[in-house]
Amino acid sequence: MDGGKYWGRPERRFGMARHAHYIDGEWIDGEETFESENPATGESLGSFPRGTEADVAAAVDAAESAFEEWRGLSYIDRAEHLWDVYTELKDRTDELGELVTRECGKEINEGRADIVEAAHMVEWAAGNARHPHGDVVPSEIGAKDAYMRRKPRGVVGCITPWNFPIAIPFWHMAVALVEGNTVVWKPAEQTPKCAHAIAELMVDAGIPEDVFNMVQGYGDAGAAIVDHDAVDTVLFTGSAEVGHGIADTVGGTPGKLAACEMGGKNAVVVTDEADLDIAVPAAVLSAFKTTGQRCVSAERLIVHTDVYEEFKARFVEAAESVAVDDPLDEGTFMGPLIEAEHREKVTAYNELAREEGADVLVDRTELGDEEIPKGHEDGHWIGPFVYETEYDPDLRCIHEEVFGPHVALIEYEGGIERAVELQNATPYGLAGSIISEDYRQINHYRDHAELGLAYGNLPCIGAEVQLPFGGVKKSGNGYPSAREIIEAVTERTAWTLNNADDIQLAQGLSAELKTGDE
Ligand code: UN1
Repeated sequence: MDGGKYWGRPERRFGMARHAHYIDGEWIDGEETFESENPATGESLGSFPRGTEADVAAAVDAAESAFEEWRGLSYIDRAEHLWDVYTELKDRTDELGELVTRECGKEINEGRADIVEAAHMVEWAAGNARHPHGDVVPSEIGAKDAYMRRKPRGVVGCITPWNFPIAIPFWHMAVALVEGNTVVWKPAEQTPKCAHAIAELMVDAGIPEDVFNMVQGYGDAGAAIVDHDAVDTVLFTGSAEVGHGIADTVGGTPGKLAACEMGGKNAVVVTDEADLDIAVPAAVLSAFKTTGQRCVSAERLIVHTDVYEEFKARFVEAAESVAVDDPLDEGTFMGPLIEAEHREKVTAYNELAREEGADVLVDRTELGDEEIPKGHEDGHWIGPFVYETEYDPDLRCIHEEVFGPHVALIEYEGGIERAVELQNATPYGLAGSIISEDYRQINHYRDHAELGLAYGNLPCIGAEVQLPFGGVKKSGNGYPSAREIIEAVTERTAWTLNNADDIQLAQGLSAELKTGDE
């Protein structure tokens, strides 16, 4: 033991471990601490050190010093460590899924899906180590060999949200590490226990000291990562406000890159040709799964006038009856919101919709005592809020992201062009779906909806890791996923080698050295 540091492996499994930062190959305490809270019960899940600028600086120094050695390993050697993480995620899906549910409130099936998604991302990244990296490119000159090669960028700073507390950290870190970068990670302050479990997995997998660093804490620790000169890439998933701030800061620093994935004001379009047996469940899953707290959750349902009344009746009935309950119970559809402050925000948006003249169809903002599970009175409970409104460009409630079970029905008349116009009428462009049996409508939507993730006859949630993930417009720059994140964590080199014993240039450029004597 020395000062604030302790050595060795912290006790495994949640409940007992001493919580610390992981910096420079050691578990480090901090002076100031914060609590993690179970959003369904309000009970404390433990206290965690709150990272400072000095902690971040130490973590970045460590990551920087480890870079040369780590990048010197083969892709396949680096991936070996990730395979160990993959095996643990597979073997411990139930246990870690329960941890996710306890700390972020997602119902247990979603808690497990978080671990499954994490395992898929690790599998993709580690498997990709054996795939070609770069291209052989033709040259105009027969004697030239030309290649596109990739190099790791260096220290990657990762800032991750609470709603996918195990999966999203691996979106950022798995590919970054296999590509040869070292990492400094600041997890969300709402889910530090999940973060601690990830740090344990990384340490147990034998990732060399300093290659992986974790600093627990709040936005000030995240900002210290963004501001640090030695951080080459910042990967961020979270709110648009924070993400745009990061993109601004990093954009002004030459050589630095930010890949930001932010929210949406996502919509499901239900056309006159929709099969309502698909439309209704697709809308319910899009709006209420994860209690509306996915960046891809839908808060707008754009429904053709011909099917509007029937869709409305069926959707309202579903919203009135979805089970809001103990997230550990397999029969639950919606758990609580993440924290009291967020509940206040969602409630305020529900009130705003009313003030803006919306016709409220379902209001389960305040659940009855009998609806709140026993022993869970201190949870951040809320049920669906559904309203109908005419489209109006000035309404805030149909343009601003709420991140909760708050959804508008907007009726439209006319062709698919009108539906797509409404779909596009927000500053965001993350996810959306169309429900239709008419391929012309579907193809029009596919080609004109301003979205990074678009679905046909499906909910607008549930993307698989091997697809690009990310949005357009205010939703981000489309990097954070398996394939595309490689662009954010590597640099490309165009490498050209001459096999001839004279120099020949492309574009018909003369290679002759002319002197004034000639
Ligand atoms: C998020 O909402 O922040 O597509 C991520 C999905 C998940 C990821 C969601 N695979 O719904």
